[in-house]
Amino acid sequence: MIFVTGGAGYIGSHACVELLMAGHDVTVFDNFSNSQWEATERVQRIAGRTMTVVRGDIRDVQALQSALRASKAEAVMHFAGLKAVGESEAEPLKYYDNNVLGTLRLLEAMVACDVKTLVFSSSATVYGIPESLPYREDHRLSATNTYGMTKLVVENMLRDLHRSDPSWSIGILRYFNPVGAHSSGLIGEDPQGTPNNLMPYVAQVAVGRREFLNVWGNDYPTPDGTGVRDYIHVVDLAIGHVKAFDYLKTREGCIAVNLGAGSGHSVMDMVRSFEAASGRAVPFKVGPRRAGDLGAYWADASLAAELFGWRVERGLDRMCADTWRWQSMNPDGYKGEQ
Ligand code: NAD
Ligand code: UFG
Repeated sequence: MIFVTGGAGYIGSHACVELLMAGHDVTVFDNFSNSQWEATERVQRIAGRTMTVVRGDIRDVQALQSALRASKAEAVMHFAGLKAVGESEAEPLKYYDNNVLGTLRLLEAMVACDVKTLVFSSSATVYGIPESLPYREDHRLSATNTYGMTKLVVENMLRDLHRSDPSWSIGILRYFNPVGAHSSGLIGEDPQGTPNNLMPYVAQVAVGRREFLNVWGNDYPTPDGTGVRDYIHVVDLAIGHVKAFDYLKTREGCIAVNLGAGSGHSVMDMVRSFEAASGRAVPFKVGPRRAGDLGAYWADASLAAELFGWRVERGLDRMCADTWRWQSMNPDGYKGEQ
């Protein structure tokens, strides 16, 4: 049994599908602060198997401990957290409370229930300003915003915990830019309000919910001047979690591993690919750089290949085609269902 915090969210829901398909039993623990119950129903429909879903907050010690104990979990995958960089700058205490205190409570509950295998959702943001590219796992760590700092604090907490008790098996997975959706079109990213991220914004322009895309800067030192990122299909990312668990279940340790494609694409590459996949125009206007943005970065993805036998299988065309299928089948996200 795998206990999945934040399993109703974008990445967690895709991970649940892959875990169920790989034969694992799953308990989701989510407070639905940024997700819909419907997502968990659809996960079970896709996988053709049931899972247990518990509504609860990881900061609620009693609810968490009783759900974890009842699940008889052998491992935890910890996706629950807040992720909006701008909001984290405006409301830092909310981010420390949810992401840091919430993880602390989760670790305490794991100790109490003697569960010592954990997969944690970290981010490429912990590398800060690139000293060299691609980012390798031994790149210096730093944070340029509060959200990134919460990830860094948790990473440090996990390394300290493992040092104190080496029988823990901890996988810190540093995601690059997750995009795309399940090929069924039933689950995908469902941002509330105006999307902060490129791909959901592009999809909403293509479907006619928004007039045009703002391209944040075309004067970066990149081939076409727009920002370059390492986009990774969310299903490849989800499969990476299953493989990470397979690796961790027989080994003690605390390892940090990049999950990225290992190559970068520009904003204009994404716009052109999305137009080709959707057959719709994506009008855009070039604006100034967005505060805090880096010009270009991508992953060295070789450690995940070496340790987990994992590498991405879905390219830009699949990322765009699957996002478009999800967006056009669910123009108002999960809410259209209610
Ligand atoms: P998401 O918001 O879609 O999913 C997070 C889920 O956690 C939601 O279902 C939310 O309701 C739940 N949640 C939040 N706080 C909770 C709490 N206190 N108790 C219980 N449940 C809670 O986000 P996502 O994109 O699926 O991201 C999952 C994880 O991956 C997050 O930790 C995020 O920081 C990390 N991450 C995401 C990205 C990205 O670009 N999406 C990149 C790097 C890392
Ligand atoms: N962009 C636009 N217009 C938009 C949105 C984004 O031009 O409307 C550009 C950005 O400037 C950037 C690229 O598209 O060049 C990707 O931007 P995203 O917001 O999609 O992703 P980021 O790389 O900025 O952010 C991601 C995660 C964060 C994480 C950060 C650092 O969403 O959680 O990487 O690793 F903190």
